[in-house]
Amino acid sequence: MPLHFRTLSRFIFDSPADLTNRPYCLFGPMTFKSHFSQLKRRALPCAIVASLPLFLGGWGNWNWLTGHQSTFDTKGPVAASQLDVFYVTLWVTGITFALVAGVLAYATLKYRAREGDDLKAVVPHQGHGNPLIELSLIGLSTVALVFIAVPTMKAIWYTYDVPADQKDIAYEVNAIGLQWWFKFEYPAEQIEDEGALVIANELVIPAGRPVRVNLRTSDVIHSFWVPKLAGKVDMIPNRGNHLWLQADEPGYFWGQCAEFCGESHSVMKFRVIALNETDFAAWVAHQKGAARTVAADAPIISEAAAPYTFVNPGRNAPGYTADFDADPFGNWRKQQNIDAGESPALIAQGRQLFQEKNCVTCHAVRGHEGMGVTGPSLTHIGSRTTIAAGLLENSKENLHRWIVHPEEVKPGNKMYVGVATGGGSVMAGYVNIDRATGKVASHNIKIDDPEARALVAYLHSLK
Ligand code: CUA
Repeated sequence: MPLHFRTLSRFIFDSPADLTNRPYCLFGPMTFKSHFSQLKRRALPCAIVASLPLFLGGWGNWNWLTGHQSTFDTKGPVAASQLDVFYVTLWVTGITFALVAGVLAYATLKYRAREGDDLKAVVPHQGHGNPLIELSLIGLSTVALVFIAVPTMKAIWYTYDVPADQKDIAYEVNAIGLQWWFKFEYPAEQIEDEGALVIANELVIPAGRPVRVNLRTSDVIHSFWVPKLAGKVDMIPNRGNHLWLQADEPGYFWGQCAEFCGESHSVMKFRVIALNETDFAAWVAHQKGAARTVAADAPIISEAAAPYTFVNPGRNAPGYTADFDADPFGNWRKQQNIDAGESPALIAQGRQLFQEKNCVTCHAVRGHEGMGVTGPSLTHIGSRTTIAAGLLENSKENLHRWIVHPEEVKPGNKMYVGVATGGGSVMAGYVNIDRATGKVASHNIKIDDPEARALVAYLHSLK
């Protein structure tokens, strides 16, 4: 017995009062003509419901095909192979859907109830079916599955590790997930008396070369994903996972933690910047160096920059300017230069505050006072395009906001609430949280506006 559109649509659009006042049943004879007139009356609400995803999902602007985190706009062989599997699956399942839905629609229309039908007619003889059709359908399903399985297995094999013939030119990095940022180690780049080069949140790689990424975590499960290059592979405690990726051309790519890992999971982002061999070598040499030092009495290099005005934009404010969004790679290059009109006196004051406010306990600034390893290394923080784990563009205004209002930028972050260091002890953050109420009990670190200006000047001088 056919399930009726009209009754279903009444289910969705009519008030319960309407339903009780009309003859109401889910199953029963009804003609196509009456369905159609019902549908016509419901056309507007149906159209509104059907178009909701367009407005809610922002699909109207087609950004999902080319946006920063689109998997349809691949820039390397691993992501391209993953996209190929998607298309093969889409075609096979799409054709299957069209065939099944077509036959269903044909049968529904051809054998629909018509006016004048004999409602008391005897139900026809119910046979076993047609063995030939059944066997053919099993055979076709198997063929369809093989069509999907072969390229899938090939892609799994290919994306698992750097191909054997390219192993000798592959570059290796370690990526470590922490709540809620990424630490990157370069085992090939050793610094005397210190060990491997360590940076945070912006992974710089050589373009046109396979890069093997060893995936680790210091706390919970995270997942490493650069939609245009490769992903996703989980970072699991006590398990050595890995993936490989390659950027065909120099460029700037968005990355994102893809496994729920706590309250700031959605804002645990990172960046991958691919450089040509020369630029990459220069970048490595510079990063291995100590932090830039500006003498307190050094002359101001160029004309003074316009002083920035800080107005706290509040919780969940956007972290980017349209200019950055349009050309992130160009902005990365600009970010390597010393800021115009930096003030040596302000920078010296900021360096002093960096110790007094206890930033040194958690952050390292190689060659200066900081040596903490709990938080991201800040040795060359001024040269990074983003702060707060890829969340905010590294502008003076944003850095000011991050330093003064970290809890509004990234809920639960350790800089604000402190971090458990084992054995029940806690390394203090900005505040002490009363464990019973979850409220702020007292403040350890408070930074006012003039102090933040000095700290921002210091951190931005660390190119
Ligand atoms: Cu880390 Cu989600």
